[in-house]
Amino acid sequence: MPIPKAELHLHIEGTLEPELAFALAERNGVQLPYATTDELRRAYSFTDLQSFLDLYYALMAVLRTEDDFADLADAYLARAAGQGVRHAEIFFDPQAHTARGVDIGTVIEGLARALDRSEERHGITTQLILCFLRDESAESALDTLKAAAPYLHHLSAVGLDSAEVGNPPSKFREVYEAAAEAGLRRVAHAGEEGPPSYIWEALDILGVQRVDHGIRCVEDPALVARLVRDRIPLTVCPLSNVRLRCVDTLADHPLPRMLDAGLLVTVSSDDPAYFGGYAGDNFDAVRHALPLDEDALRTLARNSFLAAFLDADEARRAA
Ligand code: HPA
Ligand code: ZN
Repeated sequence: MPIPKAELHLHIEGTLEPELAFALAERNGVQLPYATTDELRRAYSFTDLQSFLDLYYALMAVLRTEDDFADLADAYLARAAGQGVRHAEIFFDPQAHTARGVDIGTVIEGLARALDRSEERHGITTQLILCFLRDESAESALDTLKAAAPYLHHLSAVGLDSAEVGNPPSKFREVYEAAAEAGLRRVAHAGEEGPPSYIWEALDILGVQRVDHGIRCVEDPALVARLVRDRIPLTVCPLSNVRLRCVDTLADHPLPRMLDAGLLVTVSSDDPAYFGGYAGDNFDAVRHALPLDEDALRTLARNSFLAAFLDADEARRAA
């Protein structure tokens, strides 16, 4: 039995497995520039975040209808259940779809359909987090939040993802203020490829309650002290960090150092169809590659529920 855990850093578009991509391409009459699933898998030779993002956005062309988004999310939830996931807070990238002419309502209603029946079908409670693409303008992020207004009841938080370097959190101050006013919680990717100063900005300018990745905090002792003091969770994605070359090998991953420093770290999967593993696979990978004992693994699993946007009763029920 895999250890029960919460998945807190998961891009639903990053769960698009080659088999489903080809099935949806056929259903929607979309031509993919790959002949077979094997040929597509061979394209997964990333050298950094941008080379991954290029393929990640290209493959989204197959997602067009509410059914597509519902099927994508349902397939993810079925897999996650098999890996011990009991609660999932799921990112989506509306601008990557609206830019292709897919209505934001199609995206959210499709995802919500799968999420609404997830507890019954898969034993997983869920939340949905709308992410802004940081390499798009601040104005586009504001437009996206406005377009999401009729669907706010489906959303628990906003996040920030895509190409980090050169797109600091401060660029999105206004839209994060508006999201807070609308009652949404706030998270942001920071310190994946970007410098520790981006993590400071996410905390001090965007008011985030959780940091996604955040691994570069270890370069700044004052920042580590701040994150420990305020019990700010960091959603760390070990297999992603290796595949995108943010760390050289799993054995070099700062996760044990982060735990030793007293940081509230969790282990998540980011884009599991691309990076070689879902939540349980990430737990297995760090168990084998790093000096983490059973106690440390239990701490990581417990942290995932502490860091989730659940109240104490909900967290107890989910775990
Ligand atoms: N980092 C930034 N943006 C992303 C990622 C990531 O790991 N995955 C999907 N969008
Ligand atoms: Zn991510």
